[in-house]
Amino acid sequence: MVFARSQGRPQGRHHSRKFHPEIELKRGRTAVIVGAQWGDEGKGKIVDVLTHTFEIVARYAGGHNAGHTVIINGKKFILQLVPGGILRPECTSVIGNGVVLDPMAFLKEVASLRDAGVKVEGNLFISNRAQVILPYHRMMELGSENAPGRVKIGTTSRGIGPAYEDKMGRRGLRVADLLDRPLLRTHIENACREKNMIAHALFNSDPLDADKMFAEYAAAADKIAPFVRDTALLLNRALAEGKSIVFEGAQGTMLDIDHGTYPFVTSSSSTSGGAAIGTGVPPTSIDTVIGISKAYCTRVGGGPFPTELPGVEGEDLRKRGNEFGAVTGRPRRTGWLDLPQLRYAGMINGISWLVVTKLDVLDHLTEIPVCVGYKIDGKEIDGLPPQACGYEKIECLYRKMPGWATPTNKVKTFDGLPKAAREYMAFIEKETGARVGMISTGPDRTETILVDDFVKELGLKAN
Ligand code: GDP
Ligand code: IMO
Ligand code: MG
Repeated sequence: MVFARSQGRPQGRHHSRKFHPEIELKRGRTAVIVGAQWGDEGKGKIVDVLTHTFEIVARYAGGHNAGHTVIINGKKFILQLVPGGILRPECTSVIGNGVVLDPMAFLKEVASLRDAGVKVEGNLFISNRAQVILPYHRMMELGSENAPGRVKIGTTSRGIGPAYEDKMGRRGLRVADLLDRPLLRTHIENACREKNMIAHALFNSDPLDADKMFAEYAAAADKIAPFVRDTALLLNRALAEGKSIVFEGAQGTMLDIDHGTYPFVTSSSSTSGGAAIGTGVPPTSIDTVIGISKAYCTRVGGGPFPTELPGVEGEDLRKRGNEFGAVTGRPRRTGWLDLPQLRYAGMINGISWLVVTKLDVLDHLTEIPVCVGYKIDGKEIDGLPPQACGYEKIECLYRKMPGWATPTNKVKTFDGLPKAAREYMAFIEKETGARVGMISTGPDRTETILVDDFVKELGLKAN
């Protein structure tokens, strides 16, 4: 088996030894799907479109804080932990090591997929190195989100942050440990003792019962065991055999723990770099990064949002875009497209192709404001502020683009789009340096426009 990338290029002296060059030449295509804004850009729908061609989908970060909507012939699926590939029986789905897995949420999601007639067995695998979310993670999160004097992030209350804290603190429980009965028992006993004390002291929380927790999680472990694999091995082997992989991001660039609007972020690396860390596929095996952006902007939860429209305009965009959280139902904050933010996402992720979603939501407008620059204290700035409070000083510079004021959801080709919509795309390309490869004009799988060069470069099958 070979893990090094070759593609016929001369290998530098630092490259790893080639064991089977003939397999190397076959290495499958890969692409990362990354949220270019604050999440909910329509990643789920786009992953679904790509799985018509790609054979494997590997989720690399986050947990059931995600809600990825896929609509196929009017039937709606909201995926939280399970990658989008599950909706195609010929596709393999992998939950990578970078994910935090709530066993109960996973089993619930699998049960509802089965009920909907989706083939899960043999098509879905979980990394043995993924971290496990336990009830005390939710207890700690609830306490700290509501504690006086703490910054309220507006999290999804799924225990995501505390689970990643335990991972980085080297005291987490991994899926392999979940399946190890004696280890599971000692882990839960020790962790409960510690967390109960902390939560009581800090937040006056009621203690959790370790015995009950062990019984429940041991039973869940039995149901989860058949899905567990060494997924880094599985993915690298598949690549070496020429299989194609799409790495499915969750959340978005501005929610990334390092590069987002800290501390108003999630607790994982949601940017494209996370794809390598979160799956065990090396960065040298990543061919393309595809950034997903709405034609405008949204954000759920607290934190900076320079182009936010707090008034009736924002309300109108929310209504037209049906901007309510896929999982929590929370209303999403809405605003105009933010090009400085999108340029930043392009830089951090190395986005070569952009997918613009929800174009149809702007169909009624005769004029579309777009933020083209930021000013702080009267001076234009490059880049984004490192502190959340820095955003308060931002003055957005807008340019008004002509609207098209005509429906786009039936349009099937780029050339079939109204002139003003094509110009909107061209402007995004010019300002970000990325090419627009796909445009989404409605939630259904079929309401998608593919650009020829994108189809060619990614080797996409015709529909
Ligand atoms: P994700 O988390 O990035 O997968 O996005 P979500 O599923 O949370 O949110 C995107 C929402 O927009 C979902 O309700 C989708 O069904 C919907 N959606 C996706 N693409 C389009 C589009 O082009 N037009 C419209 N009107 N809705 C879309
Ligand atoms: P998808 O994959 C939008 C937000 C929460 C909160 C912050 C931290 O569907 O795009 P967390 O529970 O992760 O600790 O919350 O991140 N958030 C999301 N916002 N889409 C998501 O996922 C999100 N996942 C987390 O609202 O502001
Ligand atoms: Mg979502």
